[in-house]
Parts: sequence; structure tokens; C-alpha cells
Amino acid sequence: MNKMSIVGAQWGDEGKGKVVNYFSEKFEWIVRFSGGANAGHTIYYKGRKYVNHMLPSITPRSDSKGFLGAGMVLDLEKLVDELNVLENDFPGISSRFYIDLETFLVLPWHKEEDEIIENMRKKPIGTTRRGIGPAYTDKVSREGIKLYYLFDERLLEERLDNIYYLKKSQYGEKLKSNKDDVIEYLLNARNNLEKLKVNYASAVEMGKVFRSTSVLFEGAQGVLLDLDFGTYPFVTSSSCMAHGVSSVGFSTFELDEVYGVLKAYTTRVGEGPFPTEIFGDEASKIRKLGNEFGATTGRPRRIGWLDLPALRYAKIRSGLTGLVITKADVLNGIDKIKICTHYEVNGKLKDTPSSSYDFFVAKPIYIELDGWTDTNEINFLKYLSFIQEEVGVDIDYISYGPKTEEMCSKNHLVLNIHRK
Ligand code: GDP
Ligand code: IMO
Ligand code: MG
Repeated sequence: MNKMSIVGAQWGDEGKGKVVNYFSEKFEWIVRFSGGANAGHTIYYKGRKYVNHMLPSITPRSDSKGFLGAGMVLDLEKLVDELNVLENDFPGISSRFYIDLETFLVLPWHKEEDEIIENMRKKPIGTTRRGIGPAYTDKVSREGIKLYYLFDERLLEERLDNIYYLKKSQYGEKLKSNKDDVIEYLLNARNNLEKLKVNYASAVEMGKVFRSTSVLFEGAQGVLLDLDFGTYPFVTSSSCMAHGVSSVGFSTFELDEVYGVLKAYTTRVGEGPFPTEIFGDEASKIRKLGNEFGATTGRPRRIGWLDLPALRYAKIRSGLTGLVITKADVLNGIDKIKICTHYEVNGKLKDTPSSSYDFFVAKPIYIELDGWTDTNEINFLKYLSFIQEEVGVDIDYISYGPKTEEMCSKNHLVLNIHRK
């Protein structure tokens, strides 16, 4: 049975939610395996807009199910809010979601810490302030809480008592959260999830189920925000690549496809290197046409031309077997389109960055291609062919609008263009 992973091939917000939603019709299970409420995956389905921060994008298929895996950090408040929004339009949908009991929780003090530390940094990272870094830090330093603690109140109290003692010693009066409020918050969230009839499971139990059916793994963020291989320290705190499926007990060898989603140009939210960044009117125009404002924080996204060295790097790092290009429609009507084909790194020409260091010093080398007024034109096809040849991986699907149905295979596009 088909196993597919969809990951971001740039700095996030490539349109993964829309692409997952397009494919979700064909899959029994949609699985999120990393990140938390820092993600914002936008879907336009039957005329309504949904922004999923925590939930896998399962909406179209009425019997599909969603799994939230142990590589995630759960923001229970956001989760309950999101489920309530979906319940309004799809009553009973919450019972189609399963959460791994091993998953770590984002606690109210993680959000406070994110705020405090960002404000203390000489050079901030520009985090989403959703507590992601502190929650993953606590996981690694063994000060975290897993979901199953909520079902043993004695264990929960004892654990929080220990952690709170440490937090208070570290932050003193700066920390406003108090232990009793946090316990109340957690038990309240647990009761709400119970009312919504959300299910709990573990990857141990789910392994058999997943292996007997079709599963789509929905990545969060993008390869260049990956903790290990992104533009560190301007990254998120989790794995953003297909390898992240290991947190739900899978190996990348079990995946039939790993699709990297890329925009026809590049965007980035937050700080950090961005070799092909553009400014001024050119950037404002694309930002406006592409509505490039963060789905989670509303911040204006930084804009740049398509970056092939970054894409080659993403292909190698995440083992991409195919590409899906989105937002090609945003470039409609632009006369000449720039593409970065190489970097100059300390005087040397490179087609692929050797390590994430290269992104900090790269000078982009561009070529210019003729633009198109509509994606059903030969010039757009030339743009696609150029990318494919340069990167050495096929672009299999094209998204040309925000709605789920505004997407087609490349073969379909080629036929359309040749028929004209
Ligand atoms: P994600 O985090 O990768 O799921 O992406 P986001 O949802 O944060 O940002 C992508 C934005 O582009 C959303 O507003 C989508 O509705 C929109 N979008 C996705 N695909 C297309 C497309 O092909 N064309 C246009 N114009 N918008 C798109
Ligand atoms: P999706 O899944 C774009 C960025 C933040 C910041 C850095 C660290 O929607 O593509 P964090 O809050 O994770 O500690 O912030 O990572 N970032 C994203 N940028 N899309 C995302 O997710 C992001 N998730 C985190 O802007 O620069
Ligand atoms: Mg997003």
C-alpha cells in the first residue's frame, strides 16, 4: 500500500497543506510527525479556508484518519481550538484523529520562555513564539511531559512539581506561570479532548495498521529550517525532513515517494541567511500577489527568486524523489524571471552547498528566463524543464491557485499546452 511523504523543500510555507489536501483523497491515514503549532498549513476546501497548525490535513476524504506522532510537540489549547473549528463544518471529525501517547507537550511556561529568551537574544531568531524551542529543549534535557501523564494525575502532579522547581530556580520572578494553573490547564484540555472523542494510541500499536494501508506523511516547516541541516541557528528545533517519519516507527526505505514542495520563487519568515532575497517594489509586488504573510504569525514573508543550489541541497538532504511546484500563478505577467543557478562561495563557484555554512556567505549567480502570462503557456513549461534538468528530479505536479482542486499533473499541463 502506498506510503508517501510530503516535505517542504525551502524555508517553509511552500503550500504543503494544500498539496497534502489534494492527495489526501487517495490515502487512508494522514500523519504529522514533527513540529508543533509553529506550522500553519492553509487549505481552501469547498469555499472555506482552514489553517491547520497541529492537525494533519485530512478533510476531503470522509473516512480518512489523522495521526499526530511522537516527533511533534503538542499545544493542547491550539489543538482543541482547531478541532472546534473543524467540528462546526464536519461534525464528529474529531473522532477521526489519533494522538500518540508518547508525544511531548508544550506547556504554558514554554511560551513564556520563548518570549523571554527571544527578547534577551542579541540577535533574535524570529521564532513564532509558540514555545517550540523551549519544549524541544526540555524534551532533550529530560524536563518534559508526555501526553500519557495527563491520565495519571498523581504522576502528573509529581512530575510538574519537579519541573516547576527547576524552572523557578532558573527564571525566578520572570516566570509568571504557576504550577497549579498549569495542572488545571492540562486537565481542562484533557477533558475537552475527551468530550471531542479524540483517540489515543501509540506508534507501537499503529505500526501494523499503517503497514496494511495507505499513509501520507505530512511534513512541517522545510529542509532549510531543519535543526540539523538547515541554516543553523536560524532554524526550528525539530527534523523537517522525510527522515522524521522515524518518530512514527517508519524508515524512509518504506516510502514509495518523497515529494518536496517548492514555490516558484522563495520566501522565508524570521531571521537568517537568504541568498536570493529581493527587496523594494519587486519584492512588494510578489508579496502582495502571493499574499505572503505568515499563516501562524501574520508577519510579512521575505521574498526571493528561486534558488536552485538550495533546492539541490534539499533534494540530497531529504532524499526527494519528486517535486511539486506551487504558486506559479503568482509570477503570471512578470516579464523576466530570475533563477539562481549557482552560488559563489568564498571565490568558488558551486552548484550545491556543501554544508549549511555556504548559505551564510553565498553570492547568488542568476540567469533570466522569459516570463508567462498564464501557466498554460510554453514559457512556463520551459521554466519547469529548466528546473528539472538543473536539479535532476522531476516536477510531477503543478499548483496554480490556493484551492485544493487548482492542481494538475505535469503530464496534464503538457497535454493542455500542446493542444492549444
Ligand atoms: P504550508 O505551511 O507549506 O502549508 O504553506 P502556508 O499555508 O503557510 O502558505 C502557503 C500559502 O499559499 C497559503 O496561503 C495557500 O493558500 C497559498 N497557496 C498554496 N498553493 C498556492 C498556489 O498554487 N497559488 C496561490 N496563489 N496560492 C497558493
Ligand atoms: P510551516 O509548516 C515558515 C520559522 C520561524 C523562525 C524559525 C524558528 O507552516 O511551513 P520556531 O517558532 O519554530 O522556533 O521558529 O522557524 N518557522 C517557520 N517558517 N513556516 C513554518 O512552518 C515555520 N515554522 C517555524 O519563522 O524563523
Ligand atoms: Mg505555513
